[in-house]
Amino acid sequence: MTPDMDSVKQRIEMLRAQLDEHNNNYYVLNAPTISDKEFDDMMRELEELERAYPEFDDPYSPTHRVGSDLAKGFEQVLHTRRMLSLGNTYSIEEVDDFVHRCREALPGEDMAIVGEMKFDGTSISLHYRDGRLVRAVTRGDGERGDVVTDNVITIRSIPLQLRGTGWPREFEIRGEIVLPWREFDRLNAERQFNEEPLFANPRNAASGTLKMQNSAEVARRGLDAYFYYLLGEDLPYDNHFDNMTAARSWGFKVSDAMKRLHGIDDVDGYIRYWDSARKELPVATDGLVFKVDSLRQQLNLGFTAKSPRWAIAYKFQAERALTRLDSVSFEVGRMGVITPVANLEPVLLSGTVVKRASLHNEDIMRQLDLHDGDMLYVEKGGEIIPKITGVDVASRLDGSSPVKFVTHCPACGSALVRAEGEASWVCPDKYGCPPQIVGRIEHYVGRRMMDIEGIGGETAQILYDAGLIKNAADIYTLQPQDIMKLARFGPRSADRIMEGAEASKSVPFDRVVYALSIPFVGETVAKKVARACGDIDTLMSMTVDQLIGIDDIGPRIAQSIVEYFAVPSNVEIVERLRSYGVQMSMPKADDSGRSDRLAGKTIVISGTFSRHSRDEYKDMIELHGGKNSGSISKKTDFLLAGENMGPAKMEKAAKLGVSVIGEDEFLAMLE
Ligand code: IVH
Repeated sequence: MTPDMDSVKQRIEMLRAQLDEHNNNYYVLNAPTISDKEFDDMMRELEELERAYPEFDDPYSPTHRVGSDLAKGFEQVLHTRRMLSLGNTYSIEEVDDFVHRCREALPGEDMAIVGEMKFDGTSISLHYRDGRLVRAVTRGDGERGDVVTDNVITIRSIPLQLRGTGWPREFEIRGEIVLPWREFDRLNAERQFNEEPLFANPRNAASGTLKMQNSAEVARRGLDAYFYYLLGEDLPYDNHFDNMTAARSWGFKVSDAMKRLHGIDDVDGYIRYWDSARKELPVATDGLVFKVDSLRQQLNLGFTAKSPRWAIAYKFQAERALTRLDSVSFEVGRMGVITPVANLEPVLLSGTVVKRASLHNEDIMRQLDLHDGDMLYVEKGGEIIPKITGVDVASRLDGSSPVKFVTHCPACGSALVRAEGEASWVCPDKYGCPPQIVGRIEHYVGRRMMDIEGIGGETAQILYDAGLIKNAADIYTLQPQDIMKLARFGPRSADRIMEGAEASKSVPFDRVVYALSIPFVGETVAKKVARACGDIDTLMSMTVDQLIGIDDIGPRIAQSIVEYFAVPSNVEIVERLRSYGVQMSMPKADDSGRSDRLAGKTIVISGTFSRHSRDEYKDMIELHGGKNSGSISKKTDFLLAGENMGPAKMEKAAKLGVSVIGEDEFLAMLE
């Protein structure tokens, strides 16, 4: 290896080590020592070096934690050691019994117990060899599981390369993949907005996410992982607590709640403390786990067919209240989905007053067998959203009748329909049903769509009720004097609406596509579709087959788009929006300056520029027939170099004899 290449390799390795360190500080220790910007700069430098020197690429590089769009089925493997479950207990007395049982089986011996959190996620088994993650496997049926290494790599608190010293050459570590409350709330808010089914709890969200075929989406969801079980031939210590403490020093997230306990009093105190303190934790827990600390004692106690005799779970009592059902109302969403909602006599639960709880759909409602005036159990077991878990049948009023699901839309009276295999009843009158119309207008003006601030909240409903708008296009014909006639609307609010509508005319086409409320066309799909077809006329004329040809667009979305544009009133709204100046195509490169001055030339851009942005230079290269490439190779014709260009690229250009030109020189070439 030449000395130059040596120094590049060293720099790459140093960046990787430092980024791993900062990842650990940020995601495991919650104590970042550098700014996000500094982190991003280091990451960018590493990305550039790896692109320029693919020979030094490494699948474990921190740059690979962003996931990939490549979908592939999961391979299944046999677990090296079966993944068992734990026996459950529900009271301090039962836990005490467990401690006594262990003591009796170990006569005359001292015995320490380790108390830890029972994380409520989905279990994972990681295999490390020579300090590197080699495989991640889900629990599956306990005997065999799915290999989900690609998805697990995106979880930034999981070390790909171990830190510190003293790890066995080969070992397995088990833990729980969780979705922190904050990420769970964010994800559900997003899903609610898109009228996608909500995740009932972080556990379902975590296991659903881990099984996704698109690791880039997994990376976006913000999973985390806690570890609680180290297995292998030559573990550093003869007890669980020290082994887990060592694992923490290798970079694993091991909960600070883990504690060595001596005797029943310690155990009881631990339970009492965490029964309430767990509510402050950033992730969901459904109980505690108690384990005999000594590995030798664990071995002596052994296993039953299903679970270890040396460990037990204590489940937290879900907080529950009993209250009366006032009525069930049926709400109509933007897409016409009917959601039954239980209206309750207000009741205090975990510090908040609960008045309403979603019953989700007809099947869930029917399972509960609700009758008018029933007393219902409401729970908030770890979940923030209150849930009706049962009926106190003993107190049911004589002669009360069962609550029936509506057969007709409560808003417009249309007969509801339920598609085969779907859980929801839907009002089919998409274009006549008021809550659906208002829902679409609210969506259209939303921040991530057309961002018409003046019409947020209840304003869309008020404008609709006043007969001023019946669809999104009507927003652009609103007159200030009409708005000001409404109660609570003055010149200021009228101005805001007018300005917002005007500004929305420059919102890019992909967001316009999203704003139209085409079923199944969310933000990401809208972007893909808008970019692929370029303008609304192309989109409106596309067939299902042509749409399926676009990346990531399946038959259900394609069908939905075609159906949408088959409705004349939709086309009319689009045409009106176009006539008012709303963007109906992606911006096109200016064709006027096109030439073939750079035809056949492959050009690499690096550094920062003062006369044009990097993207502008990229566009210029294309406009003049050249090809922009990310990494320098023998095929590179020249390097367009700006300020602060990385030394690696410069060296590589010199080595391959690629000429380097500045921006002035480049612009002169095009004149
Ligand atoms: S120990 C052989 N410790 O609970 C014992 N499990 O019901 C292996 N879990 O499958 C499990 N937190 O997914 C253990 N601190 C903890 C845990 C924990 C959560 C989960 C795990 C396991 C299930 C057993």
